[in-house]
Amino acid sequence: MRGKKQKTSTTVAENGWEKTEKGSSRRSFLTKLMIVLGVVALGECIAIVAAFLRPRKTGVKSGDAGTIVEAGPMEKFPPDSVKAFVRGKFYLVRLEDGGFLAISRKCTHLGCTVPWLPKEKRFLCPCHASAFDIRGEVISPPAPRALDIYHVTIENNIVKVDTGKRIKRSEFRAEQITYKK
Ligand code: FES
Repeated sequence: MRGKKQKTSTTVAENGWEKTEKGSSRRSFLTKLMIVLGVVALGECIAIVAAFLRPRKTGVKSGDAGTIVEAGPMEKFPPDSVKAFVRGKFYLVRLEDGGFLAISRKCTHLGCTVPWLPKEKRFLCPCHASAFDIRGEVISPPAPRALDIYHVTIENNIVKVDTGKRIKRSEFRAEQITYKK
């Protein structure tokens, strides 16, 4: 028995090319394929951008009391030293007597970031020249009060700073210092 021949209608386009239903369905298939590939590529681009924008987790843990930054073991911080923690936006200060203070980098005048000048042993605001000593106490205005601090704890010899809540203070006081118990 001879098989049926598939019907293929043919039309002539304006440019003289022959168009067939077969050719038209192939074009339609290719168009759909291009759309699907476009959607997949777009999805991948969105996933890459989302992964790029997602915050990194190293060294920072979310605790009940806020965001805890594990600064490291006590021995890492020699007495009379200042170490900047850029992501936590604070300086970890170890005073000469071994006590710790976590001092905010934000000037209490108008909020500029205050760098630590190791040679001069003071924080000096670049905006209006307020100066603070190693404990964050004002030594030169216009800053109206000492630099803010964060709560410091020492657990199993590891220094931790709770950056969830910035603590305002008018001046430095001894009870703000954290010592190993
Ligand atoms: S913002 Fe720091 S002195 Fe003005």
